[in-house]
Amino acid sequence: MKKIVILTGAGISAESGLKTFRDSNGLWENHKIEDVATPYAWKSNPELVLDFYNKRRLQASKAFPNKAHLSLVELEKYFDVTIITQNVDDLHERAGSTKVIHLHGELIKARSSGNPSLIYNIDNNKIEIGDLCDEGHQLRPHIVWFGEEVPMITSVIPFFQVAEIVIVIGTSLSVYPASGLIDYASGADCYYIDPNGSKSMANKNFKIIPHSAVKGVKELIEELKNKSMNS
Ligand code: APR
Repeated sequence: MKKIVILTGAGISAESGLKTFRDSNGLWENHKIEDVATPYAWKSNPELVLDFYNKRRLQASKAFPNKAHLSLVELEKYFDVTIITQNVDDLHERAGSTKVIHLHGELIKARSSGNPSLIYNIDNNKIEIGDLCDEGHQLRPHIVWFGEEVPMITSVIPFFQVAEIVIVIGTSLSVYPASGLIDYASGADCYYIDPNGSKSMANKNFKIIPHSAVKGVKELIEELKNKSMNS
């Protein structure tokens, strides 16, 4: 089966009711990103950071995968599909996608603030001040904050290098290093689904599909299915 790698961002979850980051005047759910999603924020106001992510977790738990998430599951019938997501929600997994790698962490996990290798599944439960890891350190959200390294980045590059098809969905590609991944996809047919598509993809070898994720994914999947049946 042909290898497809799919890079998703907040836009794929927009039609499930989860807000994107950069479509709302630089605020994320009424907060400046630097007040809730940086190591500095965690140091200066951990209560606010925990409360913010507890709310994001609750919100994500009430959302449902939309037709774009579900269509990507269908694609697995025809292709070897790997999804690399910048999203911290679990809508790809809940839709049924079998290979999902989270670049920026996961809301349903907590990790030790003293030992990053201690990661715990917390499902939809809150993290509170005083919740400790097995070594006695405060638990924090398992999220890659601004200013932190992206530990998964080197392990996902090979997926782009060997992919025959690359699909980018609902991301402004404004956050490094995730935005640099597409540069490794030199040999692939590349598609970009985003209603504001064209500006960030100028000069790149991508076919732009300037629609929402639900509409764009449906359209592209028909095209890919037809191509795979005729080849
Ligand atoms: N369908 C598809 N795309 C959409 C839709 C939709 N219905 N609605 C909005 N979009 C697009 C926007 O046009 C934009 O290009 O989704 C993109 C969202 O971009 P961002 O808000 O920048 O989100 P993302 O690219 O995922 O952000 C990357 O930045 O804040 C950090 O770590 C966080 O993972 C996040 C990273």
